[in-house]
Amino acid sequence: MNIPREFIELLLAKIDIVDLINTQIPLRKKSGSNYFARCPFHNEKSASFSVSQQKQFYYCFGCGAHGNAIDFMMQHERLSFPEAIETLARTAGMEVPKVAGGAKKDDSLPALYALMTEVTRYYHEQLRGAKHAIAYLKNRGISGQIAKQFLLGYAPASFHQILDHFGKTDADKKKLLDTGLIIKKDEGGYFDRFRDRIMFPIHDYRGRIIGFGGRILEKGEPKYLNSPETALFQKGHELYGLFEALRANRKLDKILVVEGYMDVVALFQHEITYAVATLGTATTAHHINRLTRYVTEIIFCFDGDEAGRNAAWRALQVLFPLMQDNLQIRFLFLPDGEDPDSLVRKEGKAAFEARINSASSLSAFFFLTLSRQSDLGTIEGRARFASSALTFIKQVPSAILPEILLEELAKRARVDVTELKQQIRNPAASLQIPVAIPEPEISKPKLKPAMQIALALLVQNPQLAKSVKTSLPQGNLLGLNFLHRLLDVISLQPEINTAALIESWRGQKEENFVKNLACWEHSIPEAGITHEFLGTLRQLNLLIIEDEINRLLSKASEGELADEEKQELSRWILKKKEMTVV
Ligand code: UTP
Ligand code: MN
Repeated sequence: MNIPREFIELLLAKIDIVDLINTQIPLRKKSGSNYFARCPFHNEKSASFSVSQQKQFYYCFGCGAHGNAIDFMMQHERLSFPEAIETLARTAGMEVPKVAGGAKKDDSLPALYALMTEVTRYYHEQLRGAKHAIAYLKNRGISGQIAKQFLLGYAPASFHQILDHFGKTDADKKKLLDTGLIIKKDEGGYFDRFRDRIMFPIHDYRGRIIGFGGRILEKGEPKYLNSPETALFQKGHELYGLFEALRANRKLDKILVVEGYMDVVALFQHEITYAVATLGTATTAHHINRLTRYVTEIIFCFDGDEAGRNAAWRALQVLFPLMQDNLQIRFLFLPDGEDPDSLVRKEGKAAFEARINSASSLSAFFFLTLSRQSDLGTIEGRARFASSALTFIKQVPSAILPEILLEELAKRARVDVTELKQQIRNPAASLQIPVAIPEPEISKPKLKPAMQIALALLVQNPQLAKSVKTSLPQGNLLGLNFLHRLLDVISLQPEINTAALIESWRGQKEENFVKNLACWEHSIPEAGITHEFLGTLRQLNLLIIEDEINRLLSKASEGELADEEKQELSRWILKKKEMTVV
C-alpha cells in the first residue's frame, strides 16, 4: 500500500460522507447530525441505515454494515482500496501522491500505457498492408469498421519488427520487456513475442490498453498467444470487450459473458454490443464484482457439453457468495459444436437474442445440477439433495434469494420449508454483500464495562482526548494498552474525526475491534458525553490501581515479593487512598 497515511486522513477530512452517500441514496435527517435511509446493503422496508456527519461513519442497525467513506466506496461501488481512494480523491479535487518507496515502479506505468497505445496503433496500421490478414478477417465476417472499433491489428511475421521500431535504447527495450511485447533470449538479445498474428488489444474498463491476444492465421499452436501478466495486465481481473461495450451503450442493462475474443467481436458485428470475454480463465469474483458495477443482469454463455456444464457449475460456486437480490444471473448453453461467433453468424441477431432471453435461471440450473447427483425418488436421495443444496444456499448473503431457493428446495425435496429455514437462519443470511460482520468482540473478551464505554466514547468523539487532564497509569487491565494508543494517536492530530481515526487500523488485527467501538450504541445524551467520559476515566484509574494491587497481592500469596515489587505495591495502595479520599 503506497498511499501516504497523511493523504488519506486529509482526504477523509475533506470528503463529507453525508454528501457522498446522499448522491447515491437519498438520506433523511433525523436526529442531531444523523441521517437515515433504507440500507443499500440488505433488503429492508424500514430505514436502519444511519450516517453520522459528526463521526463521518455509517452503520446499519439491520445488517451491521459499517465503515467510513472509503469503506462505502469499497462496499457499495465494489472498488478496491486504491480505487476507492482514487475515486474519492477525484471527487475532492485532490491528486493521490505516491510514497517514495514504491515510486519507481509506479512512475513507469504511464510510460508503459503510452507504449501500449503506440504499439496498438502500429499493429493496426500494419493490417492495411497485410492482405492475408485482411482476408482472414473478411472470411470470418469482420468488417473494416468493426476492426477499427476494436483496434484489431496485425503483428508482422518478423522477429524484430517491434524491437527495431520501439526498442532503440536500452530503456525502450526495458519497457517492451515490461509490457511483454518482446522476449529475452537465453543467449542474449531479444525477439518479438507476437509474429504473424491478428492482434486483439485488451482494454481495461477505463480504456487503457493493458495487453494483447494474438490469433494465429493458419492452424497452429498456440491458437491464441496472450500477453503475459505484467504490471498492467492481470488476466483474472480483466474482461475483453468491457470497455467497448461501455462505450457503445450509454446505459447497459445486461452483459453476456462469453469465452473468446472472436465471440465478442462477431457478436458486436451483429449488433449485440454487450458481450465480454474472460481471457481464457474461469469466471472469478473480480470479474463479477466488476460487472455488477454496471449491470444487474449477467448471462454466462457456455458450451452445451459436459465441459460447459462443469464450467457453469464452477461459475455458480463463485457467484453464490456474491449474490445480491437485485442481481439476475442466467446461464446460456449453446448447441453442440457451436460458439457465439459461429451461432450468431448462422442465425443472426434476433435468433441469438431469443436464446439469451430464454437462458435458464441460476436457480433452475442449480437445482437441475444437484438433482442429477441424487435420486429424488428415495428419501435418502432427497435428504442428500436437500443437505447439499443447503450448504450452497447458506453462502448466499442476500435477503430474498435464499428465501426463494428454500421454497423451491422444499418443494423439490418434499420437506417443510420452515424446517429448512430454521437450519439456515443466521445473521449473515440478511447481509447483502459479504461485508465483514462485526464480531461481537466488545463483549467477548470481557472488557470491563468502564473500559468499553471509555474506548467507544473516545473513538466516537476523538476531541474528548482534549479534556483529559491527568494521564492514566499503565497497567495490565484489558483494553488499557489500546486506550493509551488511541490517546497517543489523537494527541498527534487533535482534530481527527472518527472516520480518519479508524482508518489507521485498516488491515490490522484491531480493525474490527475499532470499527465495533465506532458502531457501539452508548445511549449517553450528547450533552453528557464529556462528563461521562471523565467519570469513566476516574473509574478506570481506580480499576487499574485495584488490578495492580490484586496482581501483586496474589503474587505475594504464592511467595515472597521482590523489594521493588513491595515498593510498587505500597505506591499503588497510596494512590488508591488518595483517589478514594478525594
Ligand atoms: P477457443 O479455442 O474456444 O477459440 O478459445 P475461439 O474463441 O472460438 O477462437 P476462434 O473462433 O477459433 O478464433 C476461447 C478463448 O480461450 C483463450 C482465448 O481467450 C480464446 O478467445 N485461448 C484459447 C487462449 O488464450 N489460448 C489458446 O491457445 C486458445
Ligand atoms: Mn470460435
